[in-house]
Amino acid sequence: MERIKVLVVEDESEKRSAIAGTLSNVEFIKLEGEAGSADEALEMVEKSNPDVMLIDALLSEDGYKLAEQFSLSHPWIPVIMIEDEINEEAMRKTIIAGAKDAIVYPFPPAKLVDAIHRSFKLEQKKRELQREKKPGAEKDPRRGKVITVFSTKGGVGKTFFSTNLAVSLAKHKGKKVALVDLDLDFGSISLALNLIPRYTIADVVNDIRNLDSDLLNGYLTEHQSGVKVLATSVQPQMANFISSEHIEVIIKILQEAFDYVIIDLPVSAGDAMSPAFQEADLLMLITTQDLAAIRNTRACMVSLNTINYPRHKIRLLLNKAEPRGDIKIRDVETTLEQSLFGLLPAEHRLASSSLNKGIPAVLLNPRAKISRGIQRIARKILENGVATGNE
Ligand SMILES: Nc1ncnc2c1ncn2[C@@H]1O[C@H](COP(=O)(O)OP(=O)(O)OP(=O)(O)O)[C@@H](O)[C@H]1O
Ligand SMILES: [Mg+2]
Repeated sequence: MERIKVLVVEDESEKRSAIAGTLSNVEFIKLEGEAGSADEALEMVEKSNPDVMLIDALLSEDGYKLAEQFSLSHPWIPVIMIEDEINEEAMRKTIIAGAKDAIVYPFPPAKLVDAIHRSFKLEQKKRELQREKKPGAEKDPRRGKVITVFSTKGGVGKTFFSTNLAVSLAKHKGKKVALVDLDLDFGSISLALNLIPRYTIADVVNDIRNLDSDLLNGYLTEHQSGVKVLATSVQPQMANFISSEHIEVIIKILQEAFDYVIIDLPVSAGDAMSPAFQEADLLMLITTQDLAAIRNTRACMVSLNTINYPRHKIRLLLNKAEPRGDIKIRDVETTLEQSLFGLLPAEHRLASSSLNKGIPAVLLNPRAKISRGIQRIARKILENGVATGNE
């Protein structure tokens, strides 16, 4: 029988041994590890890939914060909070942190085991449903291609790239391009394109039950390049009301009317964003040439691999490349065990003046190296997005 691997994050030794004692008596549970701090937990998760995590809310470094971090970076691992008491405040914090359950310590052994079993089963069911959904969507050749732009490190150029890619694709005759700003808290596509959107994703979600291609089209803001933008809401709290079901419906309807649907994601792409990954035909992972970004990208690729994310969809893009950087381009490819789909040089002046003017670099200076790099990527995508190694 496959056992449920559990990681316990608990800094009080008494509680830790009580929990370990309970779990060691259960045949279908394997205590995969015990961490006493957030750092230890992060390290253990990468190594042991647990099925369920127990995190003490009273962890000295703030258990809720750690739970939130994990539910964003490893949304497939359900987190159960261990509380001292459950009151309204604790419930709110648990929900906001993205944990799946909460139990009060000390607990009867059966309660702990039941909570672990339940969270595990629920996650399995979710994965099954996602697997069942996949094949149909991929088979219909008339549907537009979804290109999701992501990185687990901030500021690497996701928004810059998605905006410029959208404009470059739209330059090709007859290609209809939608650009979706899913950075619900700090979205900046409107700024990058100097648009003042009349409607945002908040209006779309309010109308989700009646949504069809025509209605959705009315909520998009057209840029002079022809790209149609679904802008993010200016009320950050709106993010709490947008679910994965909403995102899935929006993507699928956009696919009916557009050749390309480009999605700009935030760094912390939580559960609600999962359709942006599932529905993607290409997942563009952006990295830069520094150690932190490369490590982050590697961790992200390992995580994607763990959930059996199709490797053939992943394209690597090195942005802000410096030919004389300490880390060589070849090293990036070796570390990430994948060749680059694209490489864009660092051109700080153009990038910054483009942002200040609200004009994408490919329009502001189409001959610049960075613009030519983006146009080359656009052509590759038009030619079916086949990875042919280095740029
Ligand atoms: N190739 C480049 N050369 C120089 N500067 C760049 C390049 N690409 C992006 N930038 C600049 O880097 C900054 C961050 O870019 P951007 O906002 O696109 O990153 P992001 O990944 O979307 O960030 P966030 O994680 O905050 O959403 C911006 O000021 C942008 O103009
Ligand atoms: Mg961004």
